Amino acid sequence: MKKLFVAVLAIGLLSGCCCKSDKCGDGCQKDGKSCVKCEKCEGCAEGCDKCPGCVEGCDKCAKCEGCSKSEKPCCKKEQGRCHKDKACGEKKECGKDKCEKKACAVLENIMTRVSVRQFTEQKPSEEQIQMLLKAAMAAPTGRNLQPWKFIVVDDKELLKSIGEQLPYSNVANGAQVCIVPCGDVTVSQDMWVEDVSAATENILLAAHAMGLGAVWTAVHPFRTDVLRPILNIPENLIPLCVIPVGYPADANLQPKDKFKPENIQRNAF
Ligand SMILES: Cc1cc2nc3c(=O)[nH]c(=O)nc-3n(C[C@H](O)[C@H](O)[C@H](O)COP(=O)(O)O)c2cc1C
Repeated sequence: MKKLFVAVLAIGLLSGCCCKSDKCGDGCQKDGKSCVKCEKCEGCAEGCDKCPGCVEGCDKCAKCEGCSKSEKPCCKKEQGRCHKDKACGEKKECGKDKCEKKACAVLENIMTRVSVRQFTEQKPSEEQIQMLLKAAMAAPTGRNLQPWKFIVVDDKELLKSIGEQLPYSNVANGAQVCIVPCGDVTVSQDMWVEDVSAATENILLAAHAMGLGAVWTAVHPFRTDVLRPILNIPENLIPLCVIPVGYPADANLQPKDKFKPENIQRNAF
């Protein structure tokens, strides 16, 4: 009897909730015999007021008819996190095999990212910039040292100076905002480049997922001393790159196909 009670308790805890009715709305719904958390949540995110399934902090919701017609990514809350879900309730094909909606959306985002160098006048919102910075700091780092600082530049004069003084970053001049990821050599001397590169790639992918465009423009190792005085960057920080971010002026930029089977070696050379 005691064992039975423990088993019932364990199942209850694992299912994550306690269903009082079959209906969505009191936090749970029935899925067959077990209880699952209801996808409905309180309060819609901005721009998605028709959706019952919006999650705070996400642009879009998973269950919204208007959502699938939108080019913007959708989000839904899953295990306490927001996930982009471009498929938005539809099953999508990934290559030959049908894949999970989440995997499909993530892979599609990776495969369709392009470097964007021309932007419209529309400035990314503060929420979007915050989301890019969160994506950056979600990157893996050696020994989890997180040896980074991120400078958000939206001052027109500074953007102009960056564009004019760093020819490879001339795109900065036409951007509304740039992010400058820097490595802190007092925190990690040996792996800051890898760590900040991972953060940079996260920013590029997150921007693309949010309907923005961005490009990695190189600063380290050749132009750090040009950028340092413009942004008054202290000596312990090394700017890796400048990432102009904005709404793409050309919505039809096509990703380059860079997959080359000859670049793959199985086991040893
Ligand atoms: C380390 C690195 C440095 C780069 N430097 C510049 C740069 O200074 N200016 C620029 O316009 N693009 C720069 N890029 C972007 C590349 O030109 C671009 O990623 C490449 O042409 C492939 O195109 P895609 O990003 O559209 O796939 C850089 C990319 C990386 C990874």
